[in-house]
Amino acid sequence: MPTSPEVFVPNAMDVFKTLAWVIAGVLFISSLRGLASQETARRGNGYGIVGMVLAIVAMLVAGSDHEISTLSFLIGALAIGATVGVVMAQRVAMTAMPEMVAVLHSFVGLAAVLVGYAAYLEPGHAGIDPAERVEIWLDVLIGAITFTGSIVAFLKLRGSVSGKPLLLPGRHLANLLMFTASLGMVVPFATMAGTEALPFLLGMTVLACILGLHLVAAIGGADMPVVVSMLNSYSGWTAAAAGFMLNNNLLIITGALVGSSGAILSTIMCRAMNRSIWSVIFGGFGADVPAGGGNGAKVEGDMTETTIDELTEELRNAKEVIIVPGFGMAAARAQHAVRQLVDILRKRGVNTRFAIHPVAGRLPGHMNVLLAEASVPYDIVMEMDEINGDFPNTDVVFVVGANDIVNPAAQTDNTSPIYGMPVLEVWKAKRVVVLKRSRGAGYAGVDNPLFVSPTTRMLFKDAKAGMEELVAKLMA
Ligand code: TAP
Repeated sequence: MPTSPEVFVPNAMDVFKTLAWVIAGVLFISSLRGLASQETARRGNGYGIVGMVLAIVAMLVAGSDHEISTLSFLIGALAIGATVGVVMAQRVAMTAMPEMVAVLHSFVGLAAVLVGYAAYLEPGHAGIDPAERVEIWLDVLIGAITFTGSIVAFLKLRGSVSGKPLLLPGRHLANLLMFTASLGMVVPFATMAGTEALPFLLGMTVLACILGLHLVAAIGGADMPVVVSMLNSYSGWTAAAAGFMLNNNLLIITGALVGSSGAILSTIMCRAMNRSIWSVIFGGFGADVPAGGGNGAKVEGDMTETTIDELTEELRNAKEVIIVPGFGMAAARAQHAVRQLVDILRKRGVNTRFAIHPVAGRLPGHMNVLLAEASVPYDIVMEMDEINGDFPNTDVVFVVGANDIVNPAAQTDNTSPIYGMPVLEVWKAKRVVVLKRSRGAGYAGVDNPLFVSPTTRMLFKDAKAGMEELVAKLMA
């Protein structure tokens, strides 16, 4: 009797899991899209949260290709992880956000390394054929680089280690040798039976850890935002490699999204800081030393101080005012007082706008987030390229706790660590008033000739206290 052809009938759990994966993937893409603008960022975050909850629930309900034998252990781990995440997110100051992101990337890197080892040492599961071993190898390599690189980035951002680049002689050759040695080890690792190749995996992990440390140590503090974004990208690629290793499509999709969006953000930031993306990836490769390691010329001349009374008068007489917020506004939490100032000036008919530098503050979009929090209308918040041409027609530029982003030496002093970084050309305005606490330098640690320019006045105060005093005076 002829047998009928076998019909593939998917089981209900597989259908549910596949559907959940697709929906979660779409939600993650929508989340990234939402995060592209301030108006939709909150919604974007919401999509991401729903997508992640769906992915976790589907994993727990439908199981992965590997059996979940210890569900209670998994739920316990999730609960601990979620609690740590919530506490960290609530406690972190906005200004310390890049540090937290760097720490989180190090967790992703470490997790990838551990999952890679677990897959290798569990011969019944992945890691049997050479292709799977290459996946494990890739996962551990990128994970280890991300892990130690993120720790160095965290320490640099925190100021626990010097922000100066560590420029060892022959460093590029050392990096190349370490990378080539790691590459060479993949052949015995992929072909040796059982777990015999463990020493090669261990050797490669040690080399990758040193490589991660060395690559990030060679990059100056001023380039750390790009490094954090680059490590974000690495953590995505390592997750994608883990997805291939574990046959988990959603992990591949999510990893690829994080990997590529991190790479795009890094490229955008590099353009904003006039840095070569390759120099960041390969630890200062191709960068001439001054562009990362020079000290900049000493600035001669005297700063001229001003007072709240004088500034009040100047603002009352102005028609065009541009406010340039920087890290000091964030540190002092002065954004609400700044908003009050803007309201007063606009009511008086003064055209008041904000000029936002792409790397003002300490994280991408830092100023935009703070101004949105203070309910500043979006249409008066201008990006650098939109407003840089308007400074010559501006009566008063009010620089609130910014320094490097308004430093003309970025255009004129090729020994400066920030040389080549596009800056807000505030010195072209009729009057510049800089509100900061002291004569001290900014993040890059260089002198700022703007402060001694004949048209600049210095107002030495805490940004919040100074701004509140100014608002009170203007309202009187
Ligand atoms: P900075 O160059 O760091 O200058 C900030 C200024 O704010 C300082 O000179 C400081 O002077 C002043 N300040 C600090 N606390 C203050 C307070 N409570 N009240 C008033 N002023 C205060 O900041 P920026 O101009 O925004 O430039 C950003 C820098 O950070 C760039 O070099 C950039 O590359 C780097 N960076 C950016 C990011 C991203 S992605 N945005 C991430 C990491 C690093 P006093 O001490 O005299 O008050």
